[in-house]
Amino acid sequence: MVLTRVAAGEQKKFLVLLGTFIHSKSRAELEYLHNAAVAVDRQGWIAAVVKDRGSVGVARDEVLGQMGWRADEVDVVQCGEGQFFFPGFIDTHVHASQYPNVGIFGKSTLLDWLDKYTFPLESSLSDLAKATKVYTACVRRTLAHGTTTATYFATVDVPATNLLADLCLSIGQRAFVGRVCMDRKGLCPDYYRDESPEASLRATRETIAHIDEIDPGYRLVSPILTPRFAPACSKDVMNGLMKLQREKKLPVQTHISENKGEVELVKTIYPEPGSYAAVYDDHGLLTPETVLAHAVHLTEEEGNLISQRESKISHCPCSNSSLTSGEARVRWMWDKGIDVGLGTDMSGGYSPSILEAARQATLMSRHVAMQIDDEGCREKCKLTVEEALYLATRGGAVCLGLGDEVGGFEVGKQLDAQLIGLGEVGQDGLRAGENSNDWVDAGNVDVFGWETWEERIAKWLYNGDDRNTKKVWVKGRLVHSRR
Ligand code: GUN
Ligand code: FE
Repeated sequence: MVLTRVAAGEQKKFLVLLGTFIHSKSRAELEYLHNAAVAVDRQGWIAAVVKDRGSVGVARDEVLGQMGWRADEVDVVQCGEGQFFFPGFIDTHVHASQYPNVGIFGKSTLLDWLDKYTFPLESSLSDLAKATKVYTACVRRTLAHGTTTATYFATVDVPATNLLADLCLSIGQRAFVGRVCMDRKGLCPDYYRDESPEASLRATRETIAHIDEIDPGYRLVSPILTPRFAPACSKDVMNGLMKLQREKKLPVQTHISENKGEVELVKTIYPEPGSYAAVYDDHGLLTPETVLAHAVHLTEEEGNLISQRESKISHCPCSNSSLTSGEARVRWMWDKGIDVGLGTDMSGGYSPSILEAARQATLMSRHVAMQIDDEGCREKCKLTVEEALYLATRGGAVCLGLGDEVGGFEVGKQLDAQLIGLGEVGQDGLRAGENSNDWVDAGNVDVFGWETWEERIAKWLYNGDDRNTKKVWVKGRLVHSRR
């Protein structure tokens, strides 16, 4: 008997996608590839791209010829009318462990929110049955919203964190999984913290070892060092993580300057360094592989320091509004040369969707603009549709060191993508398949047929949701599908 073995992470068939592909050409511009074909090999790499042919049939035949693939070796997915492929979204900051709390924050602000809602839920996930339920739901939900890469905070608990890594690998989401380090007595509750700096670093190594075992080479899932934030960490933990970062060349994630009370707290705990960013810098944690969430209340000097160190920022507008934290200034960050991505920051943010984060980034930028008197500066502040979608894809990829791997449809990148379908309105004002008393739940975006592609994309950004995300692939593997 001949056994056909499919290597781990390898698909049985080649994949050819046909139709319209849209991705960022630059921060300011989207590129539209029509009548195009993208060929994906069995390891999920984009092996050939042809575009602007007379029809998708011509594009398909050309790409099959180029690759030397027979039709029976290939799965073909063709866009329906008005559909398009878009790169998968990248969530650069999300707490998988807080997913059950989305929407539950009342009128709280960061520090009381942590005590009232967050720490009790996170600590309860050392119950592995509960963690399985929460993490499975979180990974599936975010995939359904087109998030092909997620940068997760888990909890303090090692087995539950390792479980999250297992689930990302088996369900098929590209992920960075961080065991949360928090050992400072006083700020961290006694019922939920690492016992000592040594215990914190030991537990961190245990999760790294687990991911080394399940995904050597970190092809889909990678560990990420995760000091929760300066107020929750001792100097010894931060210094230990710095050494671990240098030893293992791992990325780092933490929070910075989210809330004014938090900034004051950091000043009282760490009076010497002179700023929140300087606290991390003094502990060697501002590296080019560091992703700092929020960065709402940074000073000019802190912005310059972060830029000098080439650390990245995860902008989390939904969270910043929900917890009344303030308005982060993306244009200001970009002007300083800082790379920025988007984060849902569930459950500081109430939405699992990066499309929602992109939409809210445009709105928050307008609130920033409304505080500026100078008209030129005011206008420049406002993020465009194109810029928001750049943040959601390539911007996030750059923040995570994945700029050459994902975020667009180029040969040599991995195929992390979503198929988007909008609601086409027919002559009778109904959508395909509808009659007057049978509503098709195809989402909120009604396309009338006269819109330009740029207008369709704007309509998707402002009114789209997971109902528009018809299929999702990570590394060439189909990981979500809906009708
Ligand atoms: N700062 C420290 N921990 C957290 C958290 O869980 N969420 C947010 N938004 N900020 C934090
Ligand atoms: Fe957060």
